[in-house]
Formats: sequence, structure tokens, C-alpha cells
Amino acid sequence: MYQLHTEVFSLLLAIPVLVFLWSRKLAAHEHEYPPLVRTSIPWIGNAIQYAYNPIALFERCRLQYGPVYKIRLGGRHVTVVSTSETIASVYRDHGKKLNSGEQNMWLFNAVADIPVANKFIYEVTDGMLFPIIADCLSKGSLMTFTSDFGKHAVNFIEEMLSTDGGTILPLVDLVGEVMYKSTSLAIFGPLFPLSSHHDFALLDRNVHLIILKIPFVAQPAIKARERLLAQVVEYIAEGWREEGDGYIEGGSELASGCIRVLKSLKLSDTDVGAAFLSFMWGIHAMSVRSVFWMMAHLLVHGDALQRVRQEIDKGLGEEPDRLKSLLAEGPQALDETRFPLLDSAIKETLRQITVTGGIREALFDTEIRGSDQAYLIPKGEFVLAYPRAQNHDQRLYPEPHKYKVDRFLDPDTGKILDSLARINWGGGAHLCKGRHFAQFSLKCVAVVCLHFLDMSPLSGPDGAIMYPKMSPRSVGVLQVDEKWRVHVQRRKRGDGGT
Ligand code: HEM
Repeated sequence: MYQLHTEVFSLLLAIPVLVFLWSRKLAAHEHEYPPLVRTSIPWIGNAIQYAYNPIALFERCRLQYGPVYKIRLGGRHVTVVSTSETIASVYRDHGKKLNSGEQNMWLFNAVADIPVANKFIYEVTDGMLFPIIADCLSKGSLMTFTSDFGKHAVNFIEEMLSTDGGTILPLVDLVGEVMYKSTSLAIFGPLFPLSSHHDFALLDRNVHLIILKIPFVAQPAIKARERLLAQVVEYIAEGWREEGDGYIEGGSELASGCIRVLKSLKLSDTDVGAAFLSFMWGIHAMSVRSVFWMMAHLLVHGDALQRVRQEIDKGLGEEPDRLKSLLAEGPQALDETRFPLLDSAIKETLRQITVTGGIREALFDTEIRGSDQAYLIPKGEFVLAYPRAQNHDQRLYPEPHKYKVDRFLDPDTGKILDSLARINWGGGAHLCKGRHFAQFSLKCVAVVCLHFLDMSPLSGPDGAIMYPKMSPRSVGVLQVDEKWRVHVQRRKRGDGGT
């Protein structure tokens, strides 16, 4: 009897131990360390390839190591995740263990020369400025900006048309400038120096060179940054009024609110200007690049252009000046119920041009979940979302390399399908705060240009259409091809053509 008791007791004791050991074994299998990409260069690791052609590096690694793998970038370990589940897991970040501070630091250091050691500015931007942007550009508040944006976009094109005859010019000088100037006037007001556009374009095109600290070649962009900063500091000095809580004359509450916060922190004028410059870069960069690619895709796909133009003509009807009155109605005037094909064109463009999403630092050991596996990111390492892999997955998008303007339209109902496309606006706490405004402005520039202008891409010596060059060195979305030129003239009514 005594022996039976002992055996039962030992068994009871053994069960929890066995369960514990078994669960440890399961846990070890449940989350694994991502495979480390082999490289023969110590410390630098994959940094050179990453600098020169991140897309090629990511594609090669994905084929060799699967959808989640770890690369080494100059002493940093970065896990690249490229499935929808792992990207969603990074963006959701349930345990709040992933931090975007380092990403902002690299960017703001490059675009506004804010010293990396100045952690305070990064915290202020993330904790105080981003919420103001989110609030001022929420769907319900957009009206304040959209009618102004529309009015300025129309004026810009009408002014351009006052010169007779057609002209040949880089596409980005047309649509990038409409985007930059209309956004600046709508948000920053009439005192903002619109001539800053060229320096902004020079800086944005070369941001990667500054981030990589490549000597000499980055110099023109660094000079452009200095000039931009001086202009921004002057704009704030001239436009700031102390009455009430303080405001920028003629500027929106978005501009005034951000400057008010920066001034209240007793920062120097240069620091206020630098923080404002990084905020300004965030507002313009992705939109200017996206509008370039959207229009370029439409122009090289004549049938897509024809269909979008028909949709716009139908939406505007016959009434003269309908465009102006429509834009004055507010953001809903251009929503997807009126222009579904244009909406799909934007989603298809972002699908094609989005390269990388957010990069985060693990503040603690963090688990990233995939559909059937979890990966462990040790504290201090980084994780980078690579949505381009999902955007080019042929199981999700048949013929992924083709630009299909109606890809995001339900063939039966004609309504927008957007669940997959959302990934290109980020997600979770860092979801793009300007997405409603960005979508409106992209649509608005397309509508205004296609309503007033006939545009066509130039042909090469062999008579074939020349395509814009895709720069492999892009951060976020693809850089524009600043040399890609188009023929532009006042639209001839009734021909329906390009
Ligand atoms: C087509 C244009 C745009 C695209 C494709 C885009 C895309 C994105 C993406 C993918 C993120 C997430 C980054 C991350 O996860 O770290 C993001 C964040 C952000 N975007 Fe945009 N964006 C665009 C335009 C704009 C505009 C016009 C504004 C402001 C007016 C804006 C403001 C922001 C802000 C403030 C964040 C940071 C959010 C945070 O970290 O809390 N974006 N954007």
C-alpha cells in the first residue's frame, strides 16, 4: 500500500514536470530565431548591398531563406519580415515593445540635420506633433484643407496654360510642383516660400545619400537642405503672430499648432525650423513621389488613361466650371463612389511603388507571429517591414508586375476592394496620419491635370514609348525619375484622346 502511494505520488509529481518540459519543447519550436543571412564581410555585413539595391538584396534573401530572415547592417541586426501576417504583427505590436524612434532619428537627421543625440526633438515629434497631424487631418477635419488645395491646383494649371502652345517638360516638374505648392498653400499659407520647391526636390531625391553619409556626392543635397532650413526659419520668423495662443498668419491650425508646440518648448529658432522641416518633408515626400508614379503609369498605359479620363469626364458632366464647384464641396466630392477607377489607380500605384514600411527597434525580446510560426526578435535588434513582397505575390495579385488600373475594383459590383491595399499606409499606432489628405490630393491632381491637359510620354529613337527609370535606392516608396519628360498641351475637347 505504502509503495502504491509512493508510485502514485511520484507520478503526480512527474506529470507537471513532464508538461513543463513538453511545453518548453513546444515553445522552442513555436518561436524561432530568423535565419541569419550569410555574408563574408564582418560588421558591415549586407550594408553595401542594402545601400545600393535594397530591392535586389531583399528578393535574393527571400528566395534563399524564406519570408523572414535577418541581415546585418553595419553592426545592426535587422530582421526583414515580408508576409502579411508578420507585417501585421509588427504593426499591431500588442505589447508595445517595438519603437520607431530610431527610424525617425535617421530620417530627421538626414532631412533636417537634427543631431542624432537630440533625442528630445524625436520624442516631441512623435508624442506631440504626430497627434496634431492626426487630429487636423482626420477624415472629419479634411474640409479645411481640401477646397483650398483644389483651388490652388486649378490656379496652378490655369496659369501654366496661359502660355500658348505645347511644351515638353519633366513630369515631376508638373505634377510634383502642383502637389508641393498646393499642399504648402493649403497647410502653411501664402507666406510660405513656394520657390523652395527645387531645393526640396533636390533634397528628397538624394536623401539616401545623406543617410549613408556618402562623401562628396551628397554635398549638393546637403547644401539644398541648408537653404531650405534658412527659408523655413525665415517663414516662421515673418509669419508668427503672438496674439492669442500664437499663430502663423494665413496658415492652417495644423501649421500653427505644430509651431506653437515647438515654440512653447523654448527651443532655438534653428531647432524649431529643423523640427518643422522634418515635419514638412513628411508631408510632401511620399505624396510627390506617388503622384509622379500614378501619372507616369497612366500615361504609359494609354488604355488605362482613357478609362480614367472617361470616368473623370462623366463625373464632371457638361456644366462649365463644374470642377471648381465640385472641389469646393469638400473631400467627399472625389470619394470612391464617384471616382472608383481613380481610387483603384491610386491603390495600384502604391502597390507597385511601395518598397519598405516601418523599421522598429525591439525594446524587449519580442515575438513576431506568422501564420504558422513565430519569430523571436531579441532586445536591441531591429525589424523591418517589406510589403513589396506581398504587393508582388502572384497568389494575391496575378501578373504582379503589370499595372492593372482596375485591379482593386470588384468585377461584379464595380466597388473598391481595399483590404490588401491598406498595408501600404502602415498600420497600428504608426498608421499614416496623412492618408486621407494624401488620397484626396492624389486624386485632385489627377482630375485637374486630366481635365485641362493632354499629356503624352516621349518616344525613344526606335519609336517606342520611354518608361521612367526605377531607382533601386529608394526608402519608403520609389524615387521619381526626374528626367522623364512628357509633352503637355491644353486639352483638345472632343477627341477623348491623350
Ligand atoms: C501617398 C502618400 C503617403 C504614403 C504612401 C504614406 C505612407 C506612410 C506609411 C507607410 C507610414 C507608416 C510608417 C511606419 O510604419 O513607420 C506613414 C506614417 C506617417 N505618415 Fe504618411 N504617407 C503618405 C502621405 C502622408 C502625408 C501627406 C502626411 C501628412 C500630411 C503623412 C503623415 C504621416 C505621419 C505623421 C506618419 C507617422 C505616424 C506615426 O509614426 O505615428 N503621410 N505614412
